[in-house]
Amino acid sequence: MRTSTRVGSFTESVIREMTRLALAHDAVNLAQGFPDFPCSQELKDAAKAAIDGDVNQYAITWGAKRFRDAIAAKVTRTYPGWTVDPETELTVTCGSTEAMAATCLALLDPGDEVVIFEPWYENYWPDTMLSGAVPRFVTLHEPDWSIDEAELRAAFNHRTRAIVVNTPHNPTGKVFTRAELDLIAELAQRWDAYVLTDEIYDHIHQYG
Ligand SMILES: Cc1ncc(COP(=O)(O)O)c(C=O)c1O
Repeated sequence: MRTSTRVGSFTESVIREMTRLALAHDAVNLAQGFPDFPCSQELKDAAKAAIDGDVNQYAITWGAKRFRDAIAAKVTRTYPGWTVDPETELTVTCGSTEAMAATCLALLDPGDEVVIFEPWYENYWPDTMLSGAVPRFVTLHEPDWSIDEAELRAAFNHRTRAIVVNTPHNPTGKVFTRAELDLIAELAQRWDAYVLTDEIYDHIHQYG
């Protein structure tokens, strides 16, 4: 199939490929998490009630009001002192994957640069490419996946539009230190770049 140049270099998802290989070779699959517990009864009951109640009209594009209100309340509960306006500062997406793709498409222009720590979670490079932007990789150095301050500083310039942060980090598990986060904040402010935080593991750190 002829695809657009933008997506021509995309490969199959590493996670899906590993799952396919694990099945083919009867191997233990450590690539993909599978819930080994059922969905909560309350959620199943609510979904069935919604179907029976003919809740079948167009949803508000940025998320149902009650849902957004509940998320805003949870943000404040989880991060005391941080308030989010559910009308203007909160959009519900279909997972973090859609959130990151939509954010990149909305904020990046062709030629903009995005700083991405390497190794990176597999969606960040495609998100950047889809937006026509250029990834600038900064290595996390083994054994503790530390940042070389000079390398990070050198990655920023007047074309830098964003930096992607994910802590605890997939795939290394690295938790960024306060000093590293301060450095990222300083550089983002200096170069007027967005910090795109793909935080899906923050609760592990917080409650771990
Ligand atoms: C860092 C990171 N972001 C996003 C995702 C995907 O999240 P979602 O299922 O909410 O799209 C994953 C899943 O492995 C992930 O590790």
